[in-house]
Amino acid sequence: MAAIELEDLSFRYRNQRGEPALRDVSLTVEEGEFLGVVGETGAGKTTLLSAMCGVIPFHTSGDRAGTVRVKGRAVEAYGSLSALSSAISMVLDSPENQLFNLHVFDEVIWGPENMGFDREEIIERGERALRLFGLEGFEDRITYTLSGGEKQKVAIASIYALSPEIILLDEPTSQLDPIGTEMVFEAIDQLIAEGVTIVMAEHKIEELAKYADRIAVLRGGELTHVDETRAFFLDGADHGVAPPQVTELGLELSRSGVDGFRIPLTLEEATAEYAGVLRREGPR
Ligand SMILES: Nc1ncnc2c1ncn2[C@@H]1O[C@H](COP(=O)(O)OP(=O)(O)OP(=O)(O)O)[C@@H](O)[C@H]1O
Ligand SMILES: [Mg+2]
Repeated sequence: MAAIELEDLSFRYRNQRGEPALRDVSLTVEEGEFLGVVGETGAGKTTLLSAMCGVIPFHTSGDRAGTVRVKGRAVEAYGSLSALSSAISMVLDSPENQLFNLHVFDEVIWGPENMGFDREEIIERGERALRLFGLEGFEDRITYTLSGGEKQKVAIASIYALSPEIILLDEPTSQLDPIGTEMVFEAIDQLIAEGVTIVMAEHKIEELAKYADRIAVLRGGELTHVDETRAFFLDGADHGVAPPQVTELGLELSRSGVDGFRIPLTLEEATAEYAGVLRREGPR
């Protein structure tokens, strides 16, 4: 069964003028996949994620047409956001809006506590979440004194502690440095290995190229393209998103006649491929 199915989804915020935020979006997210969502500012990424997880219509209202199904069931049929939260949860783009406990550990176990697990399991989920996101030692830190990046990691860890089957992340690394960004993506890779389905709105193309299974592009509220990551960057068409620099280098070398190598999407692939080419060609 698909994790999420959108059929001709359109949405206009109550006070929105001009074009609606989403127009006739049809998209299926498979169970266990990592789908990256890209698009310029205002393209509709946050709106799309909000509609997938039930924030639209349960929290934010407007004119909605089409259907959204989560695990085969219409979002409305769940009845409330909290009923949806063990199936699907979203990490908001501004972590401030998601953190409301004084101490980090209380924040991370807040969800499991409210789901009524026994004490031992609550603690274990909390500790595991902190470990996965490199937050050991942060247990007693005051949430509102954390840096933006630390808050982002706590927000993701808090959602992870709920063990939803599907996690939506809205630009989760926007305030993180390269090391923090890589750590979050590695943790997400771990969630994928555990069978969690991930949908992430993200501008960091290098990271999506490395980790995402597929990439979807929104433009002016419309889904203009979706494809497997490798095909997405190498099909030769302009999807309005520049490929990673190592990929551009590969495409350029290939155009200038260098052959016998696979065009890389990541730095790791590039190192391996270009080492092979350089060994064969020798230094000039
Ligand atoms: N609460 C709201 N009320 C009215 N219009 C809104 C609201 N939220 C978003 N919009 C409008 O809907 C459109 C899509 O916005 P959305 O936030 O989904 O874009 P986005 O792709 O997430 O952008 P960004 O990259 O800046 O986060 C924009 O035109 C935006 O101005
Ligand atoms: Mg957004």
